[in-house]
Amino acid sequence: MNVLLLGSGGREHAIAWKLSQSSLLRSLHLASGNGGTSDLGVSANLDLLDFPSIERYIRKHDIELVVVGPEAPLVAGISDYLEESTKINVKVVGPRKAGAMIEGSKEFAKKFMARHNIPTARYGSFGEEEFDDAVAFLDSFNPPYVIKADGLAAGKGVVITPSKTEAKKALRSMLIEGAFDGAGKRVVVEEFLEGKEVSMFAVTDGHSFHLLPSAKDYKRVGDGNSGANTGGMGAVSPVSFLTEEFQEKALNQIIIPTIKGLAKESIPYVGFVFFGLIKVGSDPFVIEYNCRLGDPETEVMLPRIKSDLLHLFDNLCSGLLSEYDLVVDDRAASTVVLASEGYPDSCQKELEIRIDETVSQIDGHVFHSGTRESRRKLLTNGGRVLALTGRGNNLKEAIKNSYALAERIQFQGAFYRTDIGQDVLEDA
Ligand code: AMP
Ligand code: GLY
Repeated sequence: MNVLLLGSGGREHAIAWKLSQSSLLRSLHLASGNGGTSDLGVSANLDLLDFPSIERYIRKHDIELVVVGPEAPLVAGISDYLEESTKINVKVVGPRKAGAMIEGSKEFAKKFMARHNIPTARYGSFGEEEFDDAVAFLDSFNPPYVIKADGLAAGKGVVITPSKTEAKKALRSMLIEGAFDGAGKRVVVEEFLEGKEVSMFAVTDGHSFHLLPSAKDYKRVGDGNSGANTGGMGAVSPVSFLTEEFQEKALNQIIIPTIKGLAKESIPYVGFVFFGLIKVGSDPFVIEYNCRLGDPETEVMLPRIKSDLLHLFDNLCSGLLSEYDLVVDDRAASTVVLASEGYPDSCQKELEIRIDETVSQIDGHVFHSGTRESRRKLLTNGGRVLALTGRGNNLKEAIKNSYALAERIQFQGAFYRTDIGQDVLEDA
């Protein structure tokens, strides 16, 4: 098959790496790839929100299957556009706009969960004219207060603060001052839940589904979960506190009701559902849904899948998902994100990256996120630069290998968290 993969981060490098091992793959096109993907496929310089030019590219290169990595094109309706086009005949991995709303609108997601009795934090939602009501609603909760912009805000739209003054300020900046390009014109105010977070993933055609390996992501920039929220500074898989009992509950109370709920509401869904869960006592609650795979969770999840990913995608888009045999590797994986000074705020780009050749002796993978190649040099091109995935027979070994990789790569101002996976190890 000729495949086009949209997106250029660590998640997409991991997907490209896995697709490149498929016997079904004829050619892989990456829009636009990064400094780590030149050996895996052809780079295509496409704007992911310019659907007509993506359609032209698909036509010109006989693309048969498109994999949509990030959420923005899904929420903007790329799957609807490509599937409805009369000029091309292409399979798309990624839900249509109606399904992508589970991530595109936090209010939609909360209402959907309420309709299907899916456990989540108690909430209220408010619009531009309802600032005073939103402030009054804060009083129905104990601090810390949780305020979320309704729309997409690149992972930055959630404010959690113990201070009422700060909470009001967040409400004002979202509802009245148009923060996050208007994504906060509506907000969700919700109860703070205390517990351990875990990411679970299902791949579904809207009827049947497979559960993919679960992962734990480390969202804060600093050790001990300190500092600003980021896209994710590391991840591990498997997660020891995800016991069989908890997984059963998550399946019966959350995952199955979500997929059935979509079908009941006639919302077609072909792609991934990412369940951001929190374990409160021994019970799972949904913190958020995403309509795509996680980054950096994918960098630990995909290396743990032994079966052919393109075969999975082909079956997924052909109504044959239940016939696919998903084989998971028992070995563990850990990834440490090597970030650039300043992240998650703005960072200097174009810093030269030096990778010691001994990395090839370590059991793991160097996945690129914000890198690009220029005149045979590897340069930084973003805040999260590399995701260094270590493998091992157990999580301890995998973590050791991801840090061994991190120590062998340098650029000016490079930093990483030193405690990825420690809590999971202590828990085991
Ligand atoms: P979200 O973008 O909704 O995943 O929120 C980002 C992060 O904020 C989550 O991964 C949690 O760590 C935290 N968070 C969000 N909502 C809550 C909540 N209701 N209670 C506790 N923590 C939360
Ligand atoms: N790592 C969290 C996310 O991809 O949203």
